[in-house]
Amino acid sequence: MPLLEGLRVVHSKIHGYGVIATRPFKAGELICYGDGVLYLESDEFDDTYALVVPGEDSGKGELLFWDLACQTRWFNHSCAPNSEVCSKWDHAENTLRAWWVATRDIEVGEEILYDYAFVAEVAEPCACGAATCRGLIVDDDPENLAKLPDHLRQLLRVPAAA
Ligand SMILES: C[S@@+](CC[C@H](N)C(=O)[O-])C[C@H]1O[C@@H](n2cnc3c(N)ncnc32)[C@H](O)[C@@H]1O
Ligand SMILES: [Zn+2]
Repeated sequence: MPLLEGLRVVHSKIHGYGVIATRPFKAGELICYGDGVLYLESDEFDDTYALVVPGEDSGKGELLFWDLACQTRWFNHSCAPNSEVCSKWDHAENTLRAWWVATRDIEVGEEILYDYAFVAEVAEPCACGAATCRGLIVDDDPENLAKLPDHLRQLLRVPAAA
């Protein structure tokens, strides 16, 4: 696995390992492309580090998982992220392409963070520390939030009305 330039894995204040920038990134700039390995939903594997590939994206009709196999594996979640993940299915190579783009200027030493927007079934308590933290790593679409189990729902923080 070649190391991605401009990134370093460190202990994170948010959770476990995280990844910091070792050079500045400008808003809109490509941070990196990821590398990964594909799994079927029925496979036995640890999905902690995987991006979900909806069936309609791959054209295969079945849910796939792309287990990140590079430094992007340790990018943590934030409810006020500084990057976003983009992806598309590469039909010629029959795999996913995924890349991260800075959504604001990122300074050296800042952790690279994106919004995981988990479905309710896999939501987790969030420790991102942002003023706008939702309390959970979760997609805040109302239909998704309605599916939250009670023990997680009580951790949900709704932003104050303006
Ligand atoms: C792809 S891993 C990220 C790397 C992780 N920090 C590690 O050391 O393995 C995703 C997992 O990290 C944890 N995580 C990431 N962002 C988090 C956050 N903002 N708050 C709490 N846990 C977080 C969650 O357990 C999540 O399922
Ligand atoms: Zn948060």
